[in-house]
Amino acid sequence: MEFGGIPVYIFLLSVSIPLVFGNLQAPALNPSLLTQSKNLADCQACKLFVESFKKGLERTARGKYEGGDAAWEEEKLKKSYKRSEMRLIDIQEGVCKEEKTHSVQCHHMAEKAEEFIEEWWSQDPDESADLYTYICIDKMRVCCPVHHYGKDCAPCPGDHANICNGNGKCRGDGTRKGNGTCLCDPGYTGENCDHCSTGYYLSYKDDNKMLCSLCHRSCLGGCRQGTQKDCVACKTGYTFDTEEGCLDVNECDDINKCSKNQFCVNSLGSYACMSCDKSCDSCHGDGPDMCRKCAKGYSKKGEFCIADREDEDQSEKLTTTRYMTYVGLLIATGILLPKSTTLGSIVGFMVLSYIVGAEYYCMINGHEGLVNLKDYDLSQLFRT
Ligand SMILES: *[C@@H]1O[C@H](CO)[C@@H](O)[C@H](O)[C@H]1NC(C)=O
Repeated sequence: MEFGGIPVYIFLLSVSIPLVFGNLQAPALNPSLLTQSKNLADCQACKLFVESFKKGLERTARGKYEGGDAAWEEEKLKKSYKRSEMRLIDIQEGVCKEEKTHSVQCHHMAEKAEEFIEEWWSQDPDESADLYTYICIDKMRVCCPVHHYGKDCAPCPGDHANICNGNGKCRGDGTRKGNGTCLCDPGYTGENCDHCSTGYYLSYKDDNKMLCSLCHRSCLGGCRQGTQKDCVACKTGYTFDTEEGCLDVNECDDINKCSKNQFCVNSLGSYACMSCDKSCDSCHGDGPDMCRKCAKGYSKKGEFCIADREDEDQSEKLTTTRYMTYVGLLIATGILLPKSTTLGSIVGFMVLSYIVGAEYYCMINGHEGLVNLKDYDLSQLFRT
């Protein structure tokens, strides 16, 4: 056996070596983290960082020196902590810690934002001020205000109360990316998302709202309404009926759809061939009770095809016992024969009759018989 020209043992070797020396390939980072870092836009990462920083502000808002000796002392320490370098460090140490899936990007953003955060901190800021706007929009320049996009945060075109007809969003909305064109929701198309895509039909429209709905699953291309009667054309697996529209074709009506040891299952627009139960030689459904014919080694018992093996085991045992009886009888005859030819012949004849009778009985009852009994000239035994 070869895989694309590489002998199997080389293939197995190349697979097993990294397994044996597992430490060589163990990745230091979860690979899914690396893909996510590409997926998460800078603006999103900045938003995560700011959220996390705000939690840090809350966490440290009540001060660190609780339980001071005297109330006045505690108050004084609290005040000094509030704007201290120490509190900023406490916040920054905990930042992005609660973030699980995007912690790498969050930390990365925290690093980049550090100088702006320090600048903000040194201005004795109002903690309820909009840190997101300050850091992500004004300083880091990775985000834009709502319904603004691109490098210079240009306003998204159109009516901001009804962007893209309410059926899409402005590309780059709220970020420094995109070109402001409409990214339409599924089912909508057009510059302003004011048309239905192929496979959808207009199901509602008034002065400020339009809705597109999915055509019936049997439709190919467009439709006028949502039923199978409204299709412009039918998908493969469906047939057109002037009364009923697009109807599912029952492919299983064609008995040659599946191969001999399979049965056919129809589904909407399609069909599947499934393997028969192992006890069947051909079947019209799943399970040992759905056989048309039993497989070799199985026989019909009522509805089911049952393995013959248990029967075989029993009859094998029976056959062995039978043959041993024959041998015993023949040996007895052999001992008797030299002593008294007459008696020996009579016993020999009786033994022979018994064997022939037993084998005949077995044969007509369908048990395995001494098939080649005829090949042995047993009468030879009695000639001497
Ligand atoms: C805007 O961007 C989208 C996707 O990035 C692109 O398909 C489209 O052509 C662009 N439109 C203009 C006017 O640049």
